[in-house]
Amino acid sequence: MARESEVQRGLEDVVALESRICFIDGKDGRLIYQGYDIRDLAAHGTFEEVAYLLWYGRLPNERQLAELKSRLGQLRALPKGVLDILDRLPAESHPMDALRTAVSALAMYEPSESKPGSSSIGGALRLTAVLPTILGHFHRRRMGLPALTVDPTISHSAAILHALRDAPATELEIRALDVALILHADHELNASTFAARVTASTLSDLYSAITSAIGTLKGPLHGGANERVMELLAEAGTVERMEEVVRAKLGRHERIMGFGHRVYKVEDPRATILREWSRRVGEAKGNLTYYHLLRKLEDVVHAEKGLYPNVDLFSGSVYALLGIPNDLFTPLFAASRVAGWTAHVLEMYEDLRLIRPTAAYVGPVDLKWVPIAERA
Ligand code: CMC
Repeated sequence: MARESEVQRGLEDVVALESRICFIDGKDGRLIYQGYDIRDLAAHGTFEEVAYLLWYGRLPNERQLAELKSRLGQLRALPKGVLDILDRLPAESHPMDALRTAVSALAMYEPSESKPGSSSIGGALRLTAVLPTILGHFHRRRMGLPALTVDPTISHSAAILHALRDAPATELEIRALDVALILHADHELNASTFAARVTASTLSDLYSAITSAIGTLKGPLHGGANERVMELLAEAGTVERMEEVVRAKLGRHERIMGFGHRVYKVEDPRATILREWSRRVGEAKGNLTYYHLLRKLEDVVHAEKGLYPNVDLFSGSVYALLGIPNDLFTPLFAASRVAGWTAHVLEMYEDLRLIRPTAAYVGPVDLKWVPIAERA
């Protein structure tokens, strides 16, 4: 039996497995996918190149990239059965619930892809390709927008904007979203990836693993923080009120979303890149309100708590400037992280070991059975 003193609450600092996919240097604030620094990937790459890198362990050449884009485009449409299920969901459901339900249902329409233990990359491509379609179909129905027409020729980021909005997207908007997706595509053993790996470790199928991951990402301590950041900006309203609002929250021992990280002890490198994109998109739209509010928020939280921003601080402002509603922020995270989740599950299938830790039991052991009539 493990001793209580040996317990690492929240599995903090526990090295659970070996992986080649992602490295986080929490001390120096570096994030590496398959050997490449996130700053290079965000400056030069596209989401498709990064997804290929995560799945295959190397950057694609021109032919491989063209083939990947074409396959993703072809896999974008949803079977009618899943569209029907989405149409029957309450319109007021959270899009993360709709996403989780649709991915789970999709498995039943694609038995060969969801075969337990399948190590085929086909399922990874399919899941990545359909997430924007699921979100677009659900969102457009609840908003009363015209039904989604799936375009197989555009990029993943363009497909997301096409699915979620009616306005045509500019090059800058597509690039801003692409950078955000690159930054979210993987993050080592974060909670949702771990959940996906735990599910896959029982030899369950890829779709079940991704369903587990979506459910795990939904929580505000993981994926939902950027929605809460935007709520805080709305609550403060002006730069002048920010300090008072933050102090009041901290006085009530509330957490300020978008700050702190289990692994980074310095600024999250993704926050550094997104801060710049928040400014760039704000300038292009002639609206720097979010940017100024966020900069003030950073100053106050750093002064009060010494905490650094994480990826969620600036991402919401970029999405909001792109015209994406708050409750689609976490689904967007999923539409990117699905590349990482599936890469981790495929890696897991290659070297499978059931994940099954132990608990330090702290309850009694010698209680005697009491007949029900004699219980207090
Ligand atoms: N606001 C206020 N205080 C905080 C915050 C915060 N955002 N984060 C940490 N602290 C304080 C916490 O109260 C504790 O103080 P004390 O020692 O006085 O009790 C101390 O810092 C250590 O906190 P912890 O909970 O032990 O640290 P953790 O490693 O479990 O926290 C975290 C990681 C992300 C859960 C936490 O920082 C947090 O709740 N942040 C807000 C939610 C958020 O922004 N989540 C997105 C994370 S980035 C996306 C991803 O990569 O998944």
